Amino acid sequence: MSGLLIENAGGIATLAGGLRRGPSQSDAAVVSGESLAVACWDGRILAAGTADDVTRQIAAKGLPLNAFHRVDARGGLVTPGLVDAHTHLLFAGTREGEWQLRSRGAGYLEVLAAGGGILSTVAATRAASDAELLGGGRARLDQMLANGTTTAEAKSGYALNVAGELRLLELVARLSREGPIELVPTFLGAHAVPAEFRADPSAARGPATDPTEAYVAEVISEQLPAVARQGIARFCDVFCERGVFSADQSRRILRAAADLGLALRLHADELAPSGGAELAAELAANPGANPAANPSANPATKARVAAASTPGDAVLGCLSADHLGAPSEAGIAALGRAADAGTPVVATLLPATSWFLGKHHFAPARRFIDAGVPVALATDLNPGTSPTLSLPLVMSIACVEMGLSPAEALSAVTINAAYSLGLAAEIGSIEPGKQADLVVWSVPTLEQIPYWLGGSQARIVVKRGIPVFDRG
Ligand code: NIG
Ligand code: FE
Repeated sequence: MSGLLIENAGGIATLAGGLRRGPSQSDAAVVSGESLAVACWDGRILAAGTADDVTRQIAAKGLPLNAFHRVDARGGLVTPGLVDAHTHLLFAGTREGEWQLRSRGAGYLEVLAAGGGILSTVAATRAASDAELLGGGRARLDQMLANGTTTAEAKSGYALNVAGELRLLELVARLSREGPIELVPTFLGAHAVPAEFRADPSAARGPATDPTEAYVAEVISEQLPAVARQGIARFCDVFCERGVFSADQSRRILRAAADLGLALRLHADELAPSGGAELAAELAANPGANPAANPSANPATKARVAAASTPGDAVLGCLSADHLGAPSEAGIAALGRAADAGTPVVATLLPATSWFLGKHHFAPARRFIDAGVPVALATDLNPGTSPTLSLPLVMSIACVEMGLSPAEALSAVTINAAYSLGLAAEIGSIEPGKQADLVVWSVPTLEQIPYWLGGSQARIVVKRGIPVFDRG
């Protein structure tokens, strides 16, 4: 039996029709009516709509109904599987102590400058065995699945040296092979300057003496070429923030990455305007530094070219600017222009992070929507600033604190998040031929997904046409 027939759905939010931006951000392409169905065959969507119509389409394909495993949606809504486009999935240790220091007034970047924050997770992660990291990753992925996530991006960035970063990427690839959640690996060597560079900048090869410059040189000359040779990472990311990596340093790293065949995304303007949004827009198209470079030599690029078969799905270039808690006016305008020019950079907003950091200030989501910038939402799952595994919770925070409508939030965690990963031709909507990644919710409307604050209403989760989670 290789078919799946979901029956008795109370609604289907198909998200059909591609990337959402501006007014279309709120169009979830909902099919409503009684007795709706979704049919899948061989891991792909075959048809979605009224039960009669779906049955006719199954017959038209010459497929016997008894070859379909049947699932009763009990009047619940069906949506595409959720896509979490920004996670720091693999790490060791927790940071509840730092969280409590912050609630007594310590700043996030102050803690980092004092050698804590990201660097305490780096120390714990370097010391952890593969088995420990895999065990933590699996436990978190189980909970993400139970919250409706079927695809997630996963960054390295807690090793900050060649061997350790390659190990994290290898472990991400291993967890993705295990499934059911599919992972998109991102190299984030430029997440922080590691302690050994702060103590002794001559640890790096080259003439630089400033610790950050010395580490940037190592990322470009040692880490990136090794990551490209390994061929696992699809994206390169940088923490572009005043006091961490400057826009100029980020540009050098990202252009070198593009030359090696990696697509780009970046942590941009999380806490202060740092030129990140402007840089993302600048790198939306033609991001490479070296015209003679041959990015298609990277095996990961070949896979991406094969996956991104829809015109408009940018293959190289910057697909996502993330956080954007404090973008400049010029940055918002630049992202608007990139979208109008047909090379959209998705604004991937992470409201759980702002909330957990105790900020009473959130990314200006409505400004992005008004400027025609496609908006995605992600968990930013990490032990310092966002220990959550739930995209529905992130949707709730986005609705309450950023003024998104539930439909805008749903586009943000499906088709737009898929686009930001270069996967909009494969996942993120319910359309014939696309991968059959689905959630059957225990609630009948999309509004009720973020409305039930902090509870998971995902009842059945389907990955490539197979039910992989069932709450009963
Ligand atoms: O996206 N801002 C930088 N990186 C992560 C936090 C990582 C950490 O604190 O461990 C983020 O929020
Ligand atoms: Fe992050």
